Amino acid sequence: MKVVASVRDMQEISQKIRSEGKKIALVPTMGFLHDGHLSLIGIARKNADVTVTSIFVNPAQFGENEDFQKYPRDLERDKRLSESAGCDFLFTPSSDEVYPGNFVTFVSVEELTSVLEGASRPTHFRGVTTVVAKLFNIVKPHMAVFGQKDAQQVAVVKRMARDLNLDIDILVGPIVREKDGLAMSSRNVYLSPAERAESIVLSRSLQRARELIEGGERQSSAIKSEMTKLISAKPSARIDYISVADSSSLQEIDNLKPGSEVLISLAVRFGSTRLIDNFLLKI
Ligand code: PAJ
Repeated sequence: MKVVASVRDMQEISQKIRSEGKKIALVPTMGFLHDGHLSLIGIARKNADVTVTSIFVNPAQFGENEDFQKYPRDLERDKRLSESAGCDFLFTPSSDEVYPGNFVTFVSVEELTSVLEGASRPTHFRGVTTVVAKLFNIVKPHMAVFGQKDAQQVAVVKRMARDLNLDIDILVGPIVREKDGLAMSSRNVYLSPAERAESIVLSRSLQRARELIEGGERQSSAIKSEMTKLISAKPSARIDYISVADSSSLQEIDNLKPGSEVLISLAVRFGSTRLIDNFLLKI
């Protein structure tokens, strides 16, 4: 695996790979890799000739009071893990190169970004779409792989690719979980042992929602109140949102209609750590 730190070098490498007629898959990440990220590298390898993983903790997608400074970083470990997962190029640009002085150009997807994560984190998706568009321009991939863990990010990036006629396929990998059900996340390292123990209520409450729907429940309010009850029973949990929404518009729905696809999602704080999880279900 080759580590590429400069934008110009990455652009030249990608140009050469393309000129040889090979397909490039990009896996964008912010590093501190875990099995969720590595599963996306596996999907990239299966679908393309060359896999590029980017590691960039993107300041533009963190709010003022969020965890940009203390976001976990370990490049040496990330190099070992991505190499053993079969990644070909690890792209690690510097902040100065990605956001040079006087940077004033942003890519912003509207509507889809005003709900769910976007309602709680108003500048987050503008930062995500801007950096993803930049990574697409630098790496010039034929396809890019994202995780269903960030369901709204998937919807937003797909819409950006469609709206801007980007000739890039967006592939989506399933959520990878710890043995007890907690969705893997670089932020899980922030949890105290007590918070970590309580955090399994997230996947449990989603599982309960699934059971209710499979048992015939069609009222979103009943599903949400059952999830709220389970989560609020945990002393350190503070619910940010619990949502039952249409999977493509991300608008809340009151009654689950046959033939629709719903996204059940949540964001909950344990102490100062904010975790998200979700599942998609066809009714
Ligand atoms: P990051 O949080 O590092 O995640 C990188 C990719 O890994 C995302 O597509 C995310 O959905 C996926 N991922 C994270 N946890 C996962 C899990 N448990 N199972 C499956 N996939 C998982 O998402 C970002 O970085 C950034 O917003 C980024 C797209 C890199 C733009 O800065």
